[in-house]
Amino acid sequence: MGYTGFQAERRGLEANVTYLVGREENVLIWEMSLRSDRDRKVQIFPYVELGMMEFLREIQWQCYNKHQLACYPMGEVLVYRYGVENQPRPDETPLVFFAADVPVAAFDCDRDSFVGSYWSEENPVGVEQGELSDSVMYGGDPCFALQLDLELAAGEERKVHIFLGTAMTEEEILQTAARCRKADFAQRAREGLQEQWERYLSGFQCTLADKDAQTMVNIWNPYQVERNFQFSRNISYYATGTFRGVGMRDTAQDILAMIPLDTGRAREKMDLLFSQQYRDGHCNHYFFPTEGWEPVTRIHSDNHLWLIMDVYHLVMEEGSLEYLSRELPYYDGGWGSVWEHVGKSIEFTLSHMGENGFPLMLCSDWNDMLYKVCRKGKGESIWTGMQFGTVLRMMKELAGLMGESGVKYEEAYQQMQEKVNSLGWDGAWFRRCITDEGVFIGSDREPQAKIWLNTQSWAVISGLGDPDKQIAAMDSVRKYMDTELGIRKIYPAMEDYPSKEDPLTYYNKGCGENGSVFCHANTWAIIAECMLGRSDYAWKYYRQLLPMVAQARAGQERYRAEPYVYASNIFGPESDRFGLANVSWLTGTAAWMYLAVTQYLLGIRPCWEGLSVKPCLPREMLPAVVTRRFRGKVYRITIRSNDDVDVEPA
Ligand code: NOJ
Repeated sequence: MGYTGFQAERRGLEANVTYLVGREENVLIWEMSLRSDRDRKVQIFPYVELGMMEFLREIQWQCYNKHQLACYPMGEVLVYRYGVENQPRPDETPLVFFAADVPVAAFDCDRDSFVGSYWSEENPVGVEQGELSDSVMYGGDPCFALQLDLELAAGEERKVHIFLGTAMTEEEILQTAARCRKADFAQRAREGLQEQWERYLSGFQCTLADKDAQTMVNIWNPYQVERNFQFSRNISYYATGTFRGVGMRDTAQDILAMIPLDTGRAREKMDLLFSQQYRDGHCNHYFFPTEGWEPVTRIHSDNHLWLIMDVYHLVMEEGSLEYLSRELPYYDGGWGSVWEHVGKSIEFTLSHMGENGFPLMLCSDWNDMLYKVCRKGKGESIWTGMQFGTVLRMMKELAGLMGESGVKYEEAYQQMQEKVNSLGWDGAWFRRCITDEGVFIGSDREPQAKIWLNTQSWAVISGLGDPDKQIAAMDSVRKYMDTELGIRKIYPAMEDYPSKEDPLTYYNKGCGENGSVFCHANTWAIIAECMLGRSDYAWKYYRQLLPMVAQARAGQERYRAEPYVYASNIFGPESDRFGLANVSWLTGTAAWMYLAVTQYLLGIRPCWEGLSVKPCLPREMLPAVVTRRFRGKVYRITIRSNDDVDVEPA
């Protein structure tokens, strides 16, 4: 885990390159090994095209800013100074360097000199002519190119290391490069990474009959969880990293999956999120701890409630109330314990109820698309009501552990229950929300968007739906919304709804928020089916979204995403691109799919008394074996059937 390797072989010359970043230095290590079938001379030209750190700046300012760039050698190390004065933090911008652990025969720092006029990076003139020009660059377009001339003996394996790093000063660069060139540096970095990932992944490992599922549970799903946790939705193959910062809602959900794997890291992020909560209980929508920009302060109906789930999960994982007494700041001044913070979350929702008794939608709930529902300040979210019910139950349990009565949480829960089963019920499923004008969206009475997935699954998750209604709702999901590539989010998709002049969404039918298979929302359907004890449906919903299964079913050309990482959504059947996966990597699907499979299908869930094991697996998945780290010990859990389980110290 944590490295990328390439291999090539041509005319008896084998080359392998592994790229990795270790934990000791801010350096990307390129570890290259070469083997030749005969004695020969080889030239290597490691090359980096240098940009302007923030890519939008390069597009907008290149013609001016290039005058402030410098790229030059310092002995055998190349240095790039990005001295641009109009960038946000010029004093904090490090120097970049490039070095090798073999002698450098020549170099280029000027991109034009390396590439050549009318040549390209496909065939740089320096490489074709076998000789770099020792160019330096003070004003222009920078690059790092090295020329390394080696002699290989037949059968000899030769290792070469190249280092692309950052440091604040030239002196620091020389020191870092010297440390990197030590004989065992790359090996230690590789071993350190291996150890780090093994420690992380060993928190939960399973043996399953379904090997695709096993690969996802043991490796790729927790890997994706970690990437999401690290980057929120800010930077990925798809996202520019220029505007999304750390999202409250998304990060709070990502934390849920980090808790069982690394409570320390989870706590740090939770502290950070709580620092974005106001004294009245609401939270900033997203914020920029790295960039230091002003946060986005829009108020959404769900953000502050996710924090309660984090706290509940952490308390159950640790078996301790200690985190509840941790003092953390409010964004608008003052401090409060975590228990006070989560109490404020509840108060905020209680004081922002609509006239029908559901929470006001505000700027939207989990579903971004619903931002038009409450423009006049009246629209309500039935789904947030269900999210509220879910966390009220958690608060009640926590209150009990804190020695408080929790009766106010119980009362609020019962009120919401009454609303959900009366106004929220449409006859065969639960409605989604109420507009400013009092129209119920997600109703059979409406011409489009009649049924929405989230209010069906959360009627079960929250326990708010009457038992027969929960079953009817999830049956409607199966009947109207399921496809062989996952469950759509809405059915039927919208077009000019509720009116052409002011549609709820401009998403095309079957795309994104409007009727795609929204993978994140599918995870809750899996959990709901497990809670209903319907293992066959739960497993079907889980398996059909395994990336390798979905890719094989849709066909690689149609699916167009990685077969090992969850995507945010897949174009739905109402689009002629049905099966096209979209925005893989950074999606709430990762965290919730991990919870769905580990805590509901495999059923291994921390609770106050210990580890509860209540699997919901179909017969063909039995037996299954899990090792799980819990409160400092490792347990081996054998699931022979859903009612026949063995837990022993591993
Ligand atoms: C993606 C956003 O990042 C997330 O916050 C939101 O809940 C989903 N889209 C659904 O709208």
